[in-house]
Amino acid sequence: MTFHEEPDPRREHRARVDGSGQITQVGRDYHQTIYATSAPARAPIGLTDTVLRDVAGFTGREAELGRIVEASAGAGSIAIHTVDGMPGVGKTALVTRAAHLLAGQFPDGRIFIRLHGHTPGQRPANPADVLAEQLVQRGIPPELVPGGLDARAAMWRDQLNDKRVLLVLDDATGPTQVEPLLPAARDCFVLITSRRRLVALEGAVPLALDVLPPAQATELFIRLARRNPVGAEVEAAAEAVRLCGHLPLAIALLAGRLAHHPAWTIDRLTAEFADSQDRLAELRAGERAVAAAFDLSYRDLPVDQQRLFRRLGLHPGSDTDARAAAALDGIPLVAARHRMEMLYTDHLVDETAPGRYRLHDLLRTYARSRVAEDPAADRKEATARLLDHYAHAAEAAGRRLARHIRPGGPPSAPSGPDVPEQATVEGALACACRTPQPSRLRRPRRCRLRPPPGCSPCRRSGPLSAPGGALEEGGAAPGGIRVRTPMR
Ligand SMILES: Nc1ncnc2c1ncn2[C@@H]1O[C@H](COP(=O)(O)OP(=O)(O)OP(=O)(O)O)[C@@H](O)[C@H]1O
Ligand SMILES: [Mg+2]
Repeated sequence: MTFHEEPDPRREHRARVDGSGQITQVGRDYHQTIYATSAPARAPIGLTDTVLRDVAGFTGREAELGRIVEASAGAGSIAIHTVDGMPGVGKTALVTRAAHLLAGQFPDGRIFIRLHGHTPGQRPANPADVLAEQLVQRGIPPELVPGGLDARAAMWRDQLNDKRVLLVLDDATGPTQVEPLLPAARDCFVLITSRRRLVALEGAVPLALDVLPPAQATELFIRLARRNPVGAEVEAAAEAVRLCGHLPLAIALLAGRLAHHPAWTIDRLTAEFADSQDRLAELRAGERAVAAAFDLSYRDLPVDQQRLFRRLGLHPGSDTDARAAAALDGIPLVAARHRMEMLYTDHLVDETAPGRYRLHDLLRTYARSRVAEDPAADRKEATARLLDHYAHAAEAAGRRLARHIRPGGPPSAPSGPDVPEQATVEGALACACRTPQPSRLRRPRRCRLRPPPGCSPCRRSGPLSAPGGALEEGGAAPGGIRVRTPMR
């Protein structure tokens, strides 16, 4: 009997009462749940195990797993933990591994529910439908499943009352989707994964999952590629995962190619990947692709957010702030702050220091590919606004420095977006080192960098600190800016 056929309610009900029958889940996977009413009993009603099979070659994440295991041992009140992170960072892998580690602790079952926040070709699961499905799985005859969301949620909580169940809610879109699914029983343990930070989910303990540390990423690559490298090949593997931004999904896809080409060396693959004009295109295997995973997050954004995100691809630096974002997008600072915060909430930018944001390398590549589809005039305008902004920022920083060298006149008001007020000489120096000198910057095609004499950070490496370095139109994204480093 498949899920879509009419069940025999008397039989299921009797089974639930006396435990002699069964609704055994023999689902091949989460998409094809099949109920077998005629098969021998595998588990009494009420004992459910729908956790995915364990992740082959699971690597690292000891600290994160330790936190989850430790939290699950704390009795007393329902524990809700969220695991959030960028697409493909390993959220599902982590909670699946954790669910297997915790198997013995939850005698009343482990329930794994896919909420399809980001499944290609599938809409996010409706919590009312999820509850109906779960209630039927637990032996409630379909005609006894109530119609409304609240009533179903109440029945679900009642079903889990006094139970010790591990509930995994995978790939949630947000609190509205998960709240009706949360049990009330004190001994239940809930793990929720999401690409979003579920800030509004009250009482949940967040675990923001980062990309793998380099050593674990290299180990994962080697394991999935089924190689035993030594010496230079290990270094090549480390370089390959660096080019993947240490993102597990990217590593898995690249390593998978190697596993299927025994004749290839790691060295050769890495060299080709490094030289590739389109790395995202290389990170694909059939339906699975890094770009496709990013697409699903990008498409979820409101159009204003999408525009800002892709314009961040025009920025030449490794990190940025809301002022530069405001300039790029031609929006007020307050709106830019809000939108950067939203992108942060969606794990599409990371925060490296308060107010400073960074795109993961592969997300930057993705943003560049998206902004390349915009009209050339839009890109040019955005770039010009950004250069203007930095010109003003440098001018303000220069004035701040000048006041400490000789008395200066009152600062002129910038004509473009707001520029940072440098509160300290150090701040001004750092800004001057990061930004072009103002004198030649009025919508320039190129601007020379002249770090202030005696400024030690300027002597350090980095293209913007090099005497004679230049910021000019061009770069990876059409209409973008590139940093030109002179020969030393
Ligand atoms: N620690 C790990 N060890 C082994 N493989 C891993 C690990 N983390 C992730 N992977 C693999 O990387 C790929 C992406 O991981 P996963 O699907 O868990 O990411 P995700 O964060 O859930 O992605 P999404 O946001 O699309 O749901 C999978 O093939 C997974 O098996
Ligand atoms: Mg997932």
